[in-house]
Amino acid sequence: MNFTKKLKESKKVFFKNCVFHIDENVYEPAEDTFLLAENLYVTSGEHFLDMGTGCGIIAILAAKKGAKVVATDINPYALKCARNNAKLNRVKIEFRLGNLFEPIEPTEKFHIIAFNTPYLPSEKSLNKRDPIERAWNGGLDGREIIDAFIFQVSNFIEKKGKVLLIQSRLSDIHRTILTFVEKGMQARIKAKLDVFFETIVLIEAENR
Ligand SMILES: C[S@@+](CC[C@H](N)C(=O)[O-])C[C@H]1O[C@@H](n2cnc3c(N)ncnc32)[C@H](O)[C@@H]1O
Repeated sequence: MNFTKKLKESKKVFFKNCVFHIDENVYEPAEDTFLLAENLYVTSGEHFLDMGTGCGIIAILAAKKGAKVVATDINPYALKCARNNAKLNRVKIEFRLGNLFEPIEPTEKFHIIAFNTPYLPSEKSLNKRDPIERAWNGGLDGREIIDAFIFQVSNFIEKKGKVLLIQSRLSDIHRTILTFVEKGMQARIKAKLDVFFETIVLIEAENR
């Protein structure tokens, strides 16, 4: 089916005077997205990386605040959808396809790196061909992507830069804070939200 036609039939989400069309193969913004969106303190001119951009909502909100934004995702449908939403909301964003930091140059640095991770523990082994499952399935302990992300993130952050990471209490918050510390960063819970079967947290980390 033609992509433009599909978008016409897709869901719409409205947030802070912006509209986002959500393709059926793309994560629909939820409580975790809005927890991050409500705590997005970005200054004009800052370099911002939105990892796992989905429909582009976080990248677009950051760009509206004047940040220079790079947005990535492993899901090609997400990038197509986010690119279209950036156009609809009249912001310029650089979109890149790929796994974690693969599409980022080794010398690139950002003031803020945000990632609403796939954080739910699952006994089901990840079906890499299902783009929606890739958005939530964090492997057996929910930490597969979180740990791989933290392992590399300090290489791409400016000296006083910040990492904003969303996860659930179900995927071991303490472990995340310790892993940041092991990588030379300090981390704390910046905000949290109780939803019906879990608590979602926003963890903020910076270089020590
Ligand atoms: C929970 S969704 C968040 C989407 C959007 N940022 C939001 O807050 O609504 C997680 C996103 O990360 C992407 N993703 C999952 N694994 C990834 C990886 N290894 N590298 C890059 N993106 C990934 C998924 O495709 C999905 O779009």
